Amino acid sequence: MPTDGLQQLAKFEAIFLGAVGDPGVPDHVSLWGLLIPIRRSFQQYVNLRPVRLFAGIESPLKNWQPGQIDFRIVRENNEGEYSNIGGRLYEGTPHEMAVQQTIFTRRGVERILRFAFDLARKSKKHVTSATKSNGIIYTMPFWDECFQKVSAEYPDVRADQYHIDILTAHFVKHPDWFDVVVGSNLFGDILSDLGPAVVGSIGIAPSANLNPEKSFPSMFEPVHGSAPDIAGKGIANPIGQIWSGAMMLRHLGQPEAAHAIEAAITSILAKQDVRTPDIGGKATTKQMGEVIATLVSE
Ligand code: IPM
Ligand code: MG
Repeated sequence: MPTDGLQQLAKFEAIFLGAVGDPGVPDHVSLWGLLIPIRRSFQQYVNLRPVRLFAGIESPLKNWQPGQIDFRIVRENNEGEYSNIGGRLYEGTPHEMAVQQTIFTRRGVERILRFAFDLARKSKKHVTSATKSNGIIYTMPFWDECFQKVSAEYPDVRADQYHIDILTAHFVKHPDWFDVVVGSNLFGDILSDLGPAVVGSIGIAPSANLNPEKSFPSMFEPVHGSAPDIAGKGIANPIGQIWSGAMMLRHLGQPEAAHAIEAAITSILAKQDVRTPDIGGKATTKQMGEVIATLVSE
């Protein structure tokens, strides 16, 4: 990213990001030099990732119908376990040590929880919190206390919580239990690969890095990575990117356009005639994109 990259981006309402990463650049350079500074500087403290079972997508789970699994993961995106507070000492010696601090602030935790409850009010009125307060004795009990406090402000929304270990099992065994699942940066990161994986959609899953107050641009990107193994072949599945575009339109106040794109994606997946190799077809990125564009304009 150019040194003034953040200033260049700051004047826009939204950022549409493709997958980032290249085998020639170490991951921590491309991520801590680009993706993570954008999320942080622009206070994109919500990472919103939908999990939906589509007709026409093969899920590793048996006997679930489209419509039965449809929930959202709300990941804290600015603090928590992803902090650059810490350090290394005595490098390369037998006494070497590494320390990394987890940072939970009241402002940071309460604002992500409120976002989750507000979102649940618009859907099935149910929030599930991912915790681990039985093993992590300072930060996670603090998270739980904030969860109790904020949930009391939303008496109309059902609130429950699970430790992250059993929650991963429930994602697999009872994916219909969830509406909005809220978690810290790391827990949300893990759950937001697991969720799409259990509905078979990891290659098409979208995400929104939101600054809900709109003081800064929000950023929209697919969950998947840059897939260097197929780069340049023209066969990547474009749905993760296109669905991210739908989330961007919704954020920009264009819910009908967002809905039209999502309906086109649902229909193309269900029809199963045009599909990229990752989901069992022979279509190119361009062909799949064109079919979706045609459906949207109908
Ligand atoms: C994600 C990714 C990133 C994250 C990585 C690439 C740093 O896994 O967007 O989920 O952990 O935030
Ligand atoms: Mg991730």
